[in-house]
Amino acid sequence: MPVYAVTGASGHLGRFAIEQLLARGVPPSDVVAVVRSRGKAASLAGRGVQVGEADYSRPQTLGAALAGVDRLLLVSSSELGQLAAQHTNVIAAAKAAGVSRILYTSMLNAGDSTSPLAGEHRDTERVLREAGVPYTLLRNGYYTEVYTDPLGQYLQAGEILGAAGDGKIAAATRPDYAAAAAALLQHDGGNRAYELGGPAFGLPQLAQVISEVTGTKVTYRDLPAGEYAGAPQQSGLDEATARFMAALDASIARGDLETSSQDLARLPGRPVTLLSEVVRAAYDLLKVRSRTAVIGLIGAGNIGGTVARLAIDAGYNVVLSNTRGPATLTDLTRQLGPHARATTPPLTQQSTTADAAL
Ligand SMILES: NC(=O)c1ccc[n+]([C@@H]2O[C@H](COP(=O)([O-])OP(=O)(O)OC[C@H]3O[C@@H](n4cnc5c(N)ncnc54)[C@H](OP(=O)(O)O)[C@@H]3O)[C@@H](O)[C@H]2O)c1
Repeated sequence: MPVYAVTGASGHLGRFAIEQLLARGVPPSDVVAVVRSRGKAASLAGRGVQVGEADYSRPQTLGAALAGVDRLLLVSSSELGQLAAQHTNVIAAAKAAGVSRILYTSMLNAGDSTSPLAGEHRDTERVLREAGVPYTLLRNGYYTEVYTDPLGQYLQAGEILGAAGDGKIAAATRPDYAAAAAALLQHDGGNRAYELGGPAFGLPQLAQVISEVTGTKVTYRDLPAGEYAGAPQQSGLDEATARFMAALDASIARGDLETSSQDLARLPGRPVTLLSEVVRAAYDLLKVRSRTAVIGLIGAGNIGGTVARLAIDAGYNVVLSNTRGPATLTDLTRQLGPHARATTPPLTQQSTTADAAL
């Protein structure tokens, strides 16, 4: 049986890809979750998945993590500006370790996209082609979640601001892309690129679906790119980020995020999740997210962290508390992300009850 490795396994897409491999019947012992620090894969390790510890920027860590791996899903890094150099390290280490196929999560239409994000993916694709290891390019479109995560903000403002014009976005959910990745990991195809995207929608249509699903009227307001770059600054974005976001929308307006490919539905053999379903799920989560779970911990250990992760995934904000004080929970809250914080009062009867209830 081949051994599969998935990098970025502490992130959203990597986690889903591992779940999909397991759901397809791959034994956990034949899967390696590659993470920057072992603790981030504690729950996967508890289910029998192997864990490899590696950082794309530290080549010396990559060889050991990829030893014995047959097929590698290289999930693109989230550290913009460093992608090509980091991915080159991973590809070189995979080749040296004798990996027989590398699948890389690239970007839709990377070959000729004008998106400011495309260059690093194009460079990685070139390195992969030249490495001489069989490869598969998963050119993923945008995640639908990118457009539903700010749902609360849209509902509050009653509008979506953008500079995407009539541009269409062939988005799909992370689980959709992960299902295609898992199918292709088990597939012996020739070296090729798959353009992966779902049914395309424009931002006016997004506003319409949100209005229908939530019953709150939301409209789309299209702005010239320069004006749009100024608008989010009011809500705290620095100028460079605001200009970058405007450039991303300008690329959508030019049609970079469209595709006629049906590969995303065909590969895993299941329909791509509908936009209305993703909006509905985000709306349900938003209603739950107004609730907070208080979790009492003993120390800052893995069990409490796993409970907190489950609570966050179920839509709660979590407040962590232990007898040693919030300073001892800094690493854990950082790992858990923006929906977790530590609180000053020590463990109380109330938090113990909340923990038990979860
Ligand atoms: N298609 C889209 O709309 C879209 C949107 C956003 C991002 N992306 C791309 O798709 C990728 C996966 O998406 P996602 O939602 O799963 O992102 P994510 O949740 O941010 O996960 C990124 C993963 O990459 C890992 N990583 C980052 N830098 C690393 C390094 N130097 N060495 C080893 N691992 C590193 C992170 O590890 P840590 O947990 O240690 O940080 C994390 O596991 C992103 O990284 C980005 O390239 C696509």
